Formats: sequence, structure tokens, C-alpha cells
Amino acid sequence: MAERIRLVEVGPRDGLQNEARAVPAATKIRLIEDLVEAGHSTVEATSFVSPKWIPQLADAAEVYASLRRKPGVAYPVLVPNLQGLQRALEVGVSEVAIFGAASEAFSQRNINAGIDESIERFKPVMEHALTNGIKVRGYVSTVLGCPYQGEVPLRDVVRVARALHELGCYEISLGDTIGIGTARSAREMLQAVAAVIPMAQLAVHFHDTRGQALANVFACVEAGVRVVDASVAGLGGCPYAEGASGNVASEDVVYMLHGMGFETGIDLGRLVAVGRWISTELERRNGARLGLAWKG
Ligand code: HMG
Ligand code: MG
Repeated sequence: MAERIRLVEVGPRDGLQNEARAVPAATKIRLIEDLVEAGHSTVEATSFVSPKWIPQLADAAEVYASLRRKPGVAYPVLVPNLQGLQRALEVGVSEVAIFGAASEAFSQRNINAGIDESIERFKPVMEHALTNGIKVRGYVSTVLGCPYQGEVPLRDVVRVARALHELGCYEISLGDTIGIGTARSAREMLQAVAAVIPMAQLAVHFHDTRGQALANVFACVEAGVRVVDASVAGLGGCPYAEGASGNVASEDVVYMLHGMGFETGIDLGRLVAVGRWISTELERRNGARLGLAWKG
């Protein structure tokens, strides 16, 4: 039987958070539901962050509460603090993600706290989540470079990843926020983290700013990672990382993985259709190469 790779679809969150124009809640809801119908088992739905920081996701509670949720599918949401977790609990969220960074400067700009302060802030969030039976995923941003401080030493990536893991995150997603890495640096970074955290608890998260994301995913899959974050139609970017473009496109990742002999549970034709629909809806270029080439 083919080995499975799990995709974490981040388009509705990482993708939409960066859209300048307000996207109606109904569009967000349809996007999430259609992604699940295409076969995704994990769809990051939204963020319970400060609406002053990310106005696009101010409707998080409405979106989450209105979703027709399918049994067996995970719909994690981002929470930066206890206030976010509380809002998420009120609408019945069962999985959240906390997000830190390996770069001090990016951490300050993204969540208004330095690295150590952010870890302290996550502790009560983690405790409260686990007490309520909520699963917690952890993100480390800027693992291959930072838009403000430049190089990010590997030891800082390992330190933050380990801290989130020790807090109790079941999985750590390693984010190349500004898409600056190449296959070699991506693989070396993954291997450095996998020396202290089991590979089975790691995920990779590449943005495609310099066209390297798919190559980076390939290198990391070859190195053993089995969870890949991706965004339908390559939606996205990070509002606190200037020049960051969208995530690697889910369609292109799935096409590559199926070609490599992996199973993902995703119906490519349906996924391509979702990517085409949301690109039209947002009047945006389809960032998935497969979205243009697919004839099925
Ligand atoms: P702060 O300004 O220091 O927060 O921001 P505060 O605690 O001082 O509160 C300020 C105001 O925000 C208050 O309202 C709070 O009530 C409100 P006021 O009294 O002024 O009316 N507030 C909230 N409202 C709703 N929900 C909340 C919440 N928290 C505070 N949860 C804070 C600190 C962390 C809140 C802020 O910096 C923030 O929300 N940052 C989020 C930024 C973000 O979402 N960035 C994008 C996601 S990360 C990413 O994309 C990277 C990733 O994809 C991986 C990768 O690519 O590397 C994950
Ligand atoms: Mg991201």
C-alpha cells in the first residue's frame, strides 16, 4: 500500500489573511467546505487573533460557527493568546495552533512579543487548551531567514521548536515565512530539528516567494517528513513579512506526491476546481501551475 502524506490546507487562514479586500464570510465557509469535499483531512479554518492586526479574519467566530463540519476532519484555528483561545472555545473549536518565531525581530513585529515572552504567553494557553481536551499545533516562523534580521541561526530554530514541543504541541510546523530557503538549507534545517524532535511530529510550511517551495517540499519529503502545509491556488502571504508570497500550492504538491507514489486522500480534479473557483472569486491569478494545466 502506498505510504500516506497528510496535507494541512492553510489557504482559508494563511491565504485569506493577506487579502486586501474584505472576503465575505460565505465565501470563506464555502472554501473550507469545498476543500474538505476535495479530500483534505485538515483545513486550517481561520485565526482568533486581534482584529486590529488582521482585520480580514475578524469574522472568525461567525465563519467557524457556521461551518458544516465533517466528522473525522480537523479544522484547527490560530490563537495567539488566552483571549483568542477563549473566543475559539466559545464556538466549539477542538484544535488550535500557537505561533512563534525563530527570529526575535519577526516575533516582535508579528505578535508584539519577543521569543521568550511569547513562550511565557503560550504556557497558560497550552495549559487551558489541554485541560479542555484541545489539541495544540505549534508553528515556528522564519526558520530559513527573516525579513528584518536576515540570517536566522539553526540553533534558534531548534530552540524554539523544542520549547513548543516541550510545552505539549503534538506537531511542530517549520515555516519558511519569506520563501528564502533552497532545497539544501531546507533539508539541513529539518534534519537539525529532527535530531531533537521525532520526524513524525514535524511538518514543513513553505512560501513560494522565490519559486523554491516545491523543491523544498521534495527535499524534505525525501528527508522523511510526512506532513506538508500548502494552500489551494497558492493563496497567501504574511502581512508582517513584506514581499512574502503565497504558500506552495496544494494542487502542485498533491500532483508531485502522487507522482512520487504517495497517497494523500485528495481528489486532484476536485481540488483544481476549488482553486479555480477561489481565484476567480478573489479576482486573483491562480498560483497553482496545475490550476492552469489540468485538463481532467
Ligand atoms: P497586542 O496589541 O500586544 O495585544 O497584540 P493586547 O493584548 O495589548 O491587546 C490589544 C487589543 O487587541 C485589545 O483591544 C485586545 O482586547 C485585543 P482594545 O482593548 O485595544 O480594544 N485583542 C484581541 N482581540 C481578539 N482576539 C484576540 C485578541 N488579543 C488581543 N486574540 C497580539 C498582541 C498577539 C494579540 C497581536 O499581535 C496579534 O493578534 N497578532 C497576530 C498576527 C497574525 O495573525 N499574523 C499572521 C499569522 S502568523 C503567520 O502567518 C505565519 C505562519 O503562517 C507560519 C509561517 O509562514 O512562518 C503561521
Ligand atoms: Mg505562513
